[in-house]
Amino acid sequence: MVRPWLMVISSMLALLLACGAGGQGSGGEGMVKDFVPQDFSALKGMKGFSDKALELHFTLYQGYVKNTNLLAQELAKMAAQNQTASPAYAELKRRFGWEFNGMRLHELYFGNLGGKEPLAADSKLKKKIEANFGSFDQWAADFKATGAMRGIGWVVLCEDPVSGRLFNVWINEHDLGHLAGVTPLLIMDVFEHAFIPDYGLKRAEYIQAFFDNINWKAVEGRMGK
Ligand SMILES: [Fe+2]
Repeated sequence: MVRPWLMVISSMLALLLACGAGGQGSGGEGMVKDFVPQDFSALKGMKGFSDKALELHFTLYQGYVKNTNLLAQELAKMAAQNQTASPAYAELKRRFGWEFNGMRLHELYFGNLGGKEPLAADSKLKKKIEANFGSFDQWAADFKATGAMRGIGWVVLCEDPVSGRLFNVWINEHDLGHLAGVTPLLIMDVFEHAFIPDYGLKRAEYIQAFFDNINWKAVEGRMGK
């Protein structure tokens, strides 16, 4: 004869096992998913950016997503095969940050475009910019001047969560010059592919077009509490 309390424990164990199996099977903790390119096609039609240039830029961005996934898979495979001492592993490891940041910086860049309203005078971000740079115009002049620097890369307005301070930073290519632990707020791409299709060498005109389309609500939404 089966005792009732034994039946209760058996039922509970069966339930726990079923829950555990369901968690694994439905992509819970322990499952690693590939990055998926985001769709920024809603930006098409934006003033100062041709659809052709945007489509080219979206394709380049998708390449970074693809290569980030590829490198992550390849590095995991090599680690599993004990090939971590090989020069190939070291080179892929160095390359990973370049591809990942190329992906993420583009997402932040497209994500802070498509706006139509200026930054509200009484907004938290405007007050913080004024406190850090003297005035909004002084901040904008410094951001634009950073974008006019020779070379290819990014300009990032970032917030240091430790001190609360804001900085305009130059990122060389995708991976050199990042400040550790900061929150990127506003990101501008100044790789040549971002402006040459529409503006040739007139980088300042592209930077102005970028400023005319900043989505300030998205930028402010990235600030710390
Ligand atoms: Fe780009």
